[in-house]
Amino acid sequence: MKLKSLAERSLAKLPPRLAERLYGLARRIRPLRRRIELEYDELLAAAPTGRPPDGHPVYGRLPEHGVDRPAVIADVAALAAAEEAAWRTGHASGAVYHGDSGHVAFLNEAYALHSQSNPLHIDLWPSGTKFEAEIVAMTAAMLGSEATADEIVGNVTSGGTESIIMAMKAYRDRAGVGRPEMVIPTSAHVAFDKAAHYLGYRQVRVPVGDDYRADVAAMARAMTRRTVVVAGSAPGFPHGVIDPIAELSEMARERGVGFHTDACLGGFVLPWAERLGREIAPFDFRLPGVTSLSADTHKYGFAAKGTSVILYRGRELRRHQYFVATDWPGGLYYSPTMAGSRPGALLASAWAALVSMGESGYLAATAAILEAAAEIRSGIAEISGLHVLGDPLWVIAFASDELDIYEVMALMEQRGWSLNGLHRPPAVHLAVTLRHTEPGVAERFLDDLRGAVAAARDGGGEPRTGSAPMYGMAATFPARGAVGELLRRFIDRLYTVERAEE
Ligand SMILES: Cc1ncc(COP(=O)(O)O)c(C=O)c1O
Repeated sequence: MKLKSLAERSLAKLPPRLAERLYGLARRIRPLRRRIELEYDELLAAAPTGRPPDGHPVYGRLPEHGVDRPAVIADVAALAAAEEAAWRTGHASGAVYHGDSGHVAFLNEAYALHSQSNPLHIDLWPSGTKFEAEIVAMTAAMLGSEATADEIVGNVTSGGTESIIMAMKAYRDRAGVGRPEMVIPTSAHVAFDKAAHYLGYRQVRVPVGDDYRADVAAMARAMTRRTVVVAGSAPGFPHGVIDPIAELSEMARERGVGFHTDACLGGFVLPWAERLGREIAPFDFRLPGVTSLSADTHKYGFAAKGTSVILYRGRELRRHQYFVATDWPGGLYYSPTMAGSRPGALLASAWAALVSMGESGYLAATAAILEAAAEIRSGIAEISGLHVLGDPLWVIAFASDELDIYEVMALMEQRGWSLNGLHRPPAVHLAVTLRHTEPGVAERFLDDLRGAVAAARDGGGEPRTGSAPMYGMAATFPARGAVGELLRRFIDRLYTVERAEE
């Protein structure tokens, strides 16, 4: 029996728990297990390989003699050149947030100058400490530190996920309760799930309202004695809408619980949108209940990939994030975040991005992004059969009541677009970046979207193109364990290097 046919014929209509049990049972029956294995293979064969096209040397072991540097660089350059076209022309959602060649070359220059730096060795690289402290200070000042008497402190991490994990660690360790709980809206980023998984939290995800924003009353009801942190997003990844952070953070403050604003996406946009006169509901340290906040330098901060800022209200909370070891034979050891050795070059590059952009640079970038996003948003809303979810500013999710939206996404993929597929409800989003502010990009997106919708309609609106059937099935298959297993196999395959024939 195939997973797909299992889903279509029997499991699809069952409640998830029952479907999960039946699937688990089927896996224990040998002939069924064999058929399920075959089906996994078939589904994986249809999935993207995540590999560049053939024609590049493949190394499953070290070459006996080192390859000449020019040949290595030629290969690395060819791989980069083949990949660049898709994002440079603005065909990606998010991914590359600035991407102008002058800006990228400038970041690379700062990186190259510090490529050997490791801030773990403060004696060798005090510049790393300087860069990190100033990145934190600049980000904090942008996000309300100057409007509060409290000291806003923080660190640079490897990305939004690490920032969120670090904050959740700080709340867990400060509270010291057995099996702590985090209360978050369903729209919060999956990094909170990862934090819960690593840190032993019970996670309470609360459904959002019809506007896709966190439901304050429902979040309040979900809190228990074990709740140590509540979180909201500004904006959330799926639908790009901003949660009612003022109300949520105040509710948390009244109950003596921490509140994290996930501004990984919005931290470097919303302050400038407000300065531009947009009405932006407060979300940062100007709200007394906000006790931590994540803002990603490697997204709209326009730094190279690999940095984010985690901020705290006060040093006491941040201390619960730190790791120190006093009795290790390797000597006294401390580390503020997850990693031990850290890339000082990324700190140099992120610092260079912030300083070179300055307030005027971020204001101009935000103005351009919001303008392109408004054009794209109203263009989508005018396409018959599509509707925009919620009231987003620049991360625009859209869905359809008539057509399979994953079919529309697959048809956009055929036209060169890499969009994000969402589920619950099925939808697709485009995170507008500076790439989409280049002349003609917004128009091309809308033209292609109109074409994709027309083609989907001609095809009966059913999922039939590319990965659309699999995407839809994976999004709705009730036995989530089977979908999880498929994803694990997918990851395994990404890291399999076929040994060359001897
Ligand atoms: C709102 C939000 N939070 C957290 C993250 C996680 O960030 P990262 O992918 O840098 O770990 C993202 C990523 O898109 C995000 O959009």
